[in-house]
Amino acid sequence: MTVTGVTNEQDTRPVDGFARLELQTLQAYAPDWDGIRVRLDCNESPFDLPAQIKERVLDRLKAIPFNRYPQGLAVSLKREIASRLGIRATQVTLGNGLDEVIHIILQTFGLGKDVIIQKPSFTTYTYAALAADANIRAVPLGEGLSLGAAGLIEEANATGSPCIVIICNPHNPTGGRLTELDIVAVLEATNALVVVDEAYVEFSGGSLLRLVDQYDRLIVLRTLSKAFGLAGVRVGYSVSSAEIAAQLDRVRQPFNLDSLALVVAQTALQNDGYCSEAVASIVEERERLFQRLGQIEGVTCLPSCTNFILFKTNVPEAVTVRDALRRHGVSVRVYPDEPMLRQYLRVSCGTAEEDDAFLEALEDVLLETDQTCVGPRVGGRTSAEDGE
Ligand SMILES: Cc1ncc(COP(=O)(O)O)c(C=O)c1O
Repeated sequence: MTVTGVTNEQDTRPVDGFARLELQTLQAYAPDWDGIRVRLDCNESPFDLPAQIKERVLDRLKAIPFNRYPQGLAVSLKREIASRLGIRATQVTLGNGLDEVIHIILQTFGLGKDVIIQKPSFTTYTYAALAADANIRAVPLGEGLSLGAAGLIEEANATGSPCIVIICNPHNPTGGRLTELDIVAVLEATNALVVVDEAYVEFSGGSLLRLVDQYDRLIVLRTLSKAFGLAGVRVGYSVSSAEIAAQLDRVRQPFNLDSLALVVAQTALQNDGYCSEAVASIVEERERLFQRLGQIEGVTCLPSCTNFILFKTNVPEAVTVRDALRRHGVSVRVYPDEPMLRQYLRVSCGTAEEDDAFLEALEDVLLETDQTCVGPRVGGRTSAEDGE
C-alpha cells in the first residue's frame, strides 16, 4: 500500500528476497467451520465454563483497570498455578495458549539445534522449530503406531551435540502415552533438553511435574484449553527450573497474556471443581464412543487416554470420509501429509448428543462409500454379490 491507500502493482508481487524458503511448505492453519454443526476436530472440551464462574469473572473484570498493563495479574496467576502444583512461581512461564509457549521455547533454545520429535505428533512442534531455524529430526512411531523411547534416545545421541527432544505425552494424535520410566530413560541416556507436552494429562494422570526439580533439563507443558474448557481464552504454561524460565522470559513478550485471559484463568483455577466433573464425564463418554465406534463394520480404534480417539476405516483415503462427514455437518481431523495416517481420522469426544450425531453420520458415510465402491446393498448383500 502507498500512503494514500492505493495498492502499488509492486505490492502484489510475492515477497521475493524476504520469504524464507524452508517455510514455504508450511500450510497456515485455517480451519473451515462453515456449515459445521458438530465440531469434533480440535480436541476442545464440549463443556463451557459454568455460568456462575463466568459471573465471578465478570465481577472481577469490573474492578480491573483496562488502561493498565497486566503485569500484577500475570504474577498472581503464576502464584496460583505454583501453589496448586507445589512449585515456585519462578518456575512457571505463561503463554498465550500452549502454542505460544512452544514457540517461545524453540526461539529461546532452538536456533541451529536438532529438535527431535515423534512422527506423527502435534504439528506446532514442526512449525515452531522451522520458524526458530532449528533442524527437525523426526522419529517415526513403531508398528501399529506404537510409542517408544528407544528411537528418541538413539536419534538424540546420534546428533552429537546438545539437542531438544519434544515428547507429546499423552500423545496427539494416537491417544497413547509413554510411561514415566520411558521418559526418565530419555533424560538419563541423553544430554538433551527434554520437553514433555502434557496438554491432555488431566485425562490420563501420570504427570511428570514432580521430576522437574530432579532434572534441570526437563520442561513440562500444560494448557487450560482441554480439561479446563478454556480453548477460547488462550492460556498455557510451562514448568521448568527457574533458570530455564528466566531464559524464556528474555524472549517472551512482556505482556503476552491480556488482563481478560489472566482473570478468567485465575478464577477458573480457584473454582476448579467443574474441571474434575468435566474430565470424569469426558472419560466416560470416551469409553462409550470407543465401544460404539468399534461396533461399526470396518472401523478400528486405538485405545486412548485423552479426550479424543484415533480410528481407521476400510476406506483407503481418510480425506474421503472427512469430506463426506463435513457434508453431514460434522468435522473431524485427518492427516493427508502423514503416510502412516492416510486411513486414520481423529475425533474429539463431544457431548453424548454430538457423538451420536457423529456416529450416525459416520455409519451413513461408510455405507455410501461402500455403495460407491461395490454397488448398492440389497437385503444386507451388495448388488455386486447379486451379480449385477
Ligand atoms: C499436544 C498439544 N499441545 C499443545 C496444544 C495447544 O494448546 P493451546 O490451545 O493451549 O495452544 C494442543 C492443542 O490441540 C495439543 O494437542
